[in-house]
Amino acid sequence: MAAISQNRIQDRAVALGIDLGQLPGHVAVIMDGNGRWAKKKGLQRLLGHREGYRTLRSVLLNASELGIKFLTVYAFSAENWRRPKDEVDGLMSLIERAAKDELRTMHQNNVRVQVAGRISEVPDGLRSALEHGIETTKDNTGITFTLAVNYGGRAEIVDAVRAIVAEGIEAERITEETIAGHLYNPSTPEPDLMIRTAGEMRWSNFLIWQSAYTELVVTEKPWPEFDEAELLQAVSIYQHRTRKFGAVVE
Ligand code: FPP
Repeated sequence: MAAISQNRIQDRAVALGIDLGQLPGHVAVIMDGNGRWAKKKGLQRLLGHREGYRTLRSVLLNASELGIKFLTVYAFSAENWRRPKDEVDGLMSLIERAAKDELRTMHQNNVRVQVAGRISEVPDGLRSALEHGIETTKDNTGITFTLAVNYGGRAEIVDAVRAIVAEGIEAERITEETIAGHLYNPSTPEPDLMIRTAGEMRWSNFLIWQSAYTELVVTEKPWPEFDEAELLQAVSIYQHRTRKFGAVVE
């Protein structure tokens, strides 16, 4: 019997053969290609990021309505500080504005907001907007939306090791669980599906500890053109993969 769906995106997913009972619980996204999208249109790179923000709004809503429980997006990497100052400043203010402007909608939609990254190093206005968002939505029970800002996967592991040392945990007692338990959001499950837009086949230091067994789907379209159909396509590709976690699957 076909699954009984709750809303339109679920109807469309079912029509595409997606099994709503086997959705990836945690989807992570490397939102790449904003700059190339803008350049192709003869626009400034920042306009690409602005369009990328619009895409993110709809992807969050779609992922939530589809029934995905965790969505994590790479908004600003620890390496992105190397970009021209006006682009860095523009991105910081765009993320700050988004955090402020979207809070009410996210709260109404039962979204729980988290961040990952060295948040103490971002501008004060952005940091306090993020902290306010986390505090306001902390008891929400819908999708958990994690914004990776000033995030680096290696830096996250360094920070975990520092915390472990600071707690005085003896070397012999350190296991993989100890490290996983000291990452930025230890109760967030590992990503099942990582989507990267704009064609590059790289991990770019994103969730490198957590992605050991994550399925990677790379789409050709740049992030500003990533839409509902692309999301459903990525989920469908994911559902056709056989996850082995290092074992043999007959
Ligand atoms: C990569 O594209 C994208 C980023 C470095 C920034 C991602 C930011 C957004 C999507 C803006 C909205 C985010 C929030 C949280 C409001 P790129 O510039 O590296 O593209 P390119 O490889 O084509 O140059």
